[in-house]
Amino acid sequence: MITMRDDVYRYNEERWEALVEADALFTRPMLDLDADRARAYLGLERLGLPGDLAGRRVLCLAGGGGQQSAAFALLGADVTVFDISSGQLGRDRSAAEHHGVEVRTVQGDMRDLSALGDSSFDLVWHPYSLTFVPDSRIVFREVARVVDAGGHYYVMCANPFFAGLTHHAWNGEGYTLGHPYTDEAVTSYPDQDWVYDREAGRSIGEPREYRQTLSRIVNSLTREGFLLTFLSEVRSDRPGLEPGSWEHFTSVAPPWLEFVWRYRPGVLGG
Ligand SMILES: C[S@@+](CC[C@H](N)C(=O)[O-])C[C@H]1O[C@@H](n2cnc3c(N)ncnc32)[C@H](O)[C@@H]1O
Repeated sequence: MITMRDDVYRYNEERWEALVEADALFTRPMLDLDADRARAYLGLERLGLPGDLAGRRVLCLAGGGGQQSAAFALLGADVTVFDISSGQLGRDRSAAEHHGVEVRTVQGDMRDLSALGDSSFDLVWHPYSLTFVPDSRIVFREVARVVDAGGHYYVMCANPFFAGLTHHAWNGEGYTLGHPYTDEAVTSYPDQDWVYDREAGRSIGEPREYRQTLSRIVNSLTREGFLLTFLSEVRSDRPGLEPGSWEHFTSVAPPWLEFVWRYRPGVLGG
């Protein structure tokens, strides 16, 4: 657990407040949801997660912005959003108000979930953010503490093999791998053009991300008592894509992984 406001904390907080101000893609709340759309958006069936969320305790971890929190609340879940950015949490509250549902918001760093009780969630939903901190093991330990036995942990993160690589690495024949494959290697890259309008927004620092190798992710979650129930390599799969484009890049080098883990302490140790 990390309680101090270190450089990682400060950088993430400042950057995400600026992204909210610039109305960046991941900060725009979803205001056109109903229960059916919420279910389709979350894709619970595809992930093999229980569909009946009424009364289930859901934590949207580093998941502010008013997207997933609103969707879960519309499906009847008891939702808590934990995020480092007060602006992002404000978007969760306005989305909830818009939809006439309730969500609880808690500000903090995902490496320190001491504001949340032991075994207090049935599902921890962790959208893209794991690579914003250097050592994912600290986060996993905290998730293991707050999730209840038998509960689920969904985590979407950078594909460790391609972290920091984008379509800009096209050299005419392929995408050049340049960063070392080591845990915590910094893998910053410019935000994609579609993240926010650079003309309108003030200057915002690049994401500062840290590679988490696949072995660290899998071995540390297994050690904490999680069993893997689903894995997806998120990619484009349309034919005829233009080499050097984002879509072609994401068909060659799937940029994200999605995992669903089930917390079964004691089954494998941990
Ligand atoms: C890409 S967004 C993901 C959430 C958003 N709902 C979405 O689906 O796009 C990343 C989120 O992580 C949060 N974040 C970044 N660093 C964090 C940290 N160390 N602890 C907690 N939240 C963090 C940001 O404020 C932001 O809301």
